[in-house]
Amino acid sequence: MADLLATLHAEAFPPAERWTAQAMGLLLGLSGHFGLFAESDGEPLGFALGRAAAGEAEVITIGVRPSARRAGAGRALMEALMAEAASRGAEALFLEVSEANGPARGLYAALGAVEVGRRRRYYPDGTDALVLRLDITSCGAAKAE
Ligand SMILES: CC(C)(COP(=O)(O)OP(=O)(O)OC[C@H]1O[C@@H](n2cnc3c(N)ncnc32)[C@H](O)[C@@H]1OP(=O)(O)O)[C@@H](O)C(=O)NCCC(=O)NCCS
Repeated sequence: MADLLATLHAEAFPPAERWTAQAMGLLLGLSGHFGLFAESDGEPLGFALGRAAAGEAEVITIGVRPSARRAGAGRALMEALMAEAASRGAEALFLEVSEANGPARGLYAALGAVEVGRRRRYYPDGTDALVLRLDITSCGAAKAE
């Protein structure tokens, strides 16, 4: 799984932002972390890495192959991640996105994310990170009593 995550990450992000398979493996081994894939006819289209703990979850990274974009894979990955986080007891999902990342901001806005904070000059290119929150109380399987 770590190898495929790293391969897809390298396709989705610029070279300077790449994560190695070793880094992916380390993340997947940490408590509460999980990886998800989107595929079509057995062909991987995208990935997401999330974390859920103590009632809250976060999107660590998400990406779709450039050739597969704008066809619903990103939304499907986010919905799967929200359902997985909810099934692990999370009620809110947080994520950070560059204010300059139009496609990702469009995706999160389409899902109903609201801005709850801003980290000034957070990214190496000097752009701010917007901190977004999604309510996931109505996602996925009902929580165990
Ligand atoms: C962000 C990303 C994951 C979106 O994946 P995708 O498969 O293209 O997204 P979807 O096709 O599911 O789009 C769902 C909705 O998001 C919004 N959206 C997606 N791409 C958009 C774009 N380029 N411009 C504006 N809105 C966009 C739209 O509302 C879209 O719905 P619509 O197609 O019905 O209008 C993809 O662009 C990507 O991998 N980007 C590079 C990596 C990255 O920036 N990751 C996020 C880091 S925070």
